[in-house]
Amino acid sequence: MRQGRSQRQRCERRWEVPPASRHLAWFARVAAFALLVSLQPIFAQAQAVGAKIDVVSNIVAPDDVEVVADAIPVPLTTEHPDARRGRAIVLDRANGNCLICHQLSVPGEQFQGTIGPPLDGVGARLMPAQIRLRLVDQSRLSPLTLMPPLYRTGHLTRVDARYRDKPVLSPIEIEDVVAFLSSLGK
Ligand code: HEC
Repeated sequence: MRQGRSQRQRCERRWEVPPASRHLAWFARVAAFALLVSLQPIFAQAQAVGAKIDVVSNIVAPDDVEVVADAIPVPLTTEHPDARRGRAIVLDRANGNCLICHQLSVPGEQFQGTIGPPLDGVGARLMPAQIRLRLVDQSRLSPLTLMPPLYRTGHLTRVDARYRDKPVLSPIEIEDVVAFLSSLGK
């Protein structure tokens, strides 16, 4: 009997909580749940790209690039690439300067190099993910290559202080060039 009463008292005390704060507690719980649900796409996005992509800036940093076999399957940025911008970079003698080593059948482009293979038709020979690795760091495939790593900052020698810790091309520039080269030969 005594036990029964004390149990009832405890119950009563539990329900003595003023209704307003009970509502507040429920509201807090619902709000926390809603926040988790709304953040879910961001978590999912981060997971989808190997949890390496920076959710804020949407780029993969040079040290976080993941190589799978002879390719980099995940684009370096979620920004949309543009093949026309990529073409301009490839032809730009001051920036990429690709034609000092490579040939590309473009009218009016003289003095092209033959150190590297011709870029004509490269999109038919290589998948975009394979082209990406060759641009990012060809030395992963051939350690003594003359092709400069365009998206690597570590393990470089004789880098001028102005260019230290800066890759030759930005993530979107790499993706633009991947888009352009992938269109060659198709
Ligand atoms: C200093 C010379 C040099 C420069 C500059 C250069 N490359 Fe290369 N590239 C090479 C060489 C050499 C290879 C051959 C790969 C090797 O050495 O194993 C190559 C390979 C490649 C490949 C792979 C081609 C294939 O068929 O396998 C691509 C794609 C490529 N380069 C694109 C570029 C682009 C785009 C640029 C400019 C942004 C560029 N390269 C600048 C020398 C260069």
